[in-house]
Amino acid sequence: MKQEDEVIMENRAMYSDLKDELLLTREQIAARVKEMGKQITEDFKGKDLTVICILKGAVVFFVDLVREIDLPMSMDFMAISSYGSATKSSGVVRIMKDLDKPVNGKDVLVIEDIVDSGMTLSFLRENLLSRGAASLKIATLLDKPERRRVPLHVDYFGFTIPDEFVVGYGLDYDEKYRNLPDIGVLKPEVYEK
Ligand code: IMP
Ligand code: MG
Repeated sequence: MKQEDEVIMENRAMYSDLKDELLLTREQIAARVKEMGKQITEDFKGKDLTVICILKGAVVFFVDLVREIDLPMSMDFMAISSYGSATKSSGVVRIMKDLDKPVNGKDVLVIEDIVDSGMTLSFLRENLLSRGAASLKIATLLDKPERRRVPLHVDYFGFTIPDEFVVGYGLDYDEKYRNLPDIGVLKPEVYEK
């Protein structure tokens, strides 16, 4: 068992890797997620909704967002890996874990953490439509429009952010920081060393 003060020190160490001012606090995120859930509830009334969580980055956003959607739904999970360096994606996308159930005839809502180049989601859009989804919409918490390399229509986004590498609330660097409740900008010296 770790001492409580050791755990607090570890938390502090994670936050000390972030630039001082948080980009988005847990309160700001929660308020926006609530609004997004309301909008999605309106838009999907009467549809045969399947929500797809893109693992692992979207997992925290997903569990919060689905609880703000007041509709019957099925949930499924897909893990995608896009090759590249740790902070830049290459556009080569591979499915590491596929859906459990077919999506043909379903109204699909893909839930993602962040759209950067747009490569991952444009691949996914084509892939899911080719399986016969009746409709496909995309919800992402964060959007970095400056970095877009392929055109992509995002139906719901939480926040537009500048071109900086962010972590927390599901987003990682080298698998770390996903459990931080807030979102911050990682200090460049953390990934440049
Ligand atoms: P895209 O294919 O370039 O749009 O890549 C999107 C994926 O890159 C996301 O699902 C994230 O896993 C990752 N990503 C892009 N920007 C960031 C960031 O600032 N922090 C953490 N992960 C990021
Ligand atoms: Mg991701």
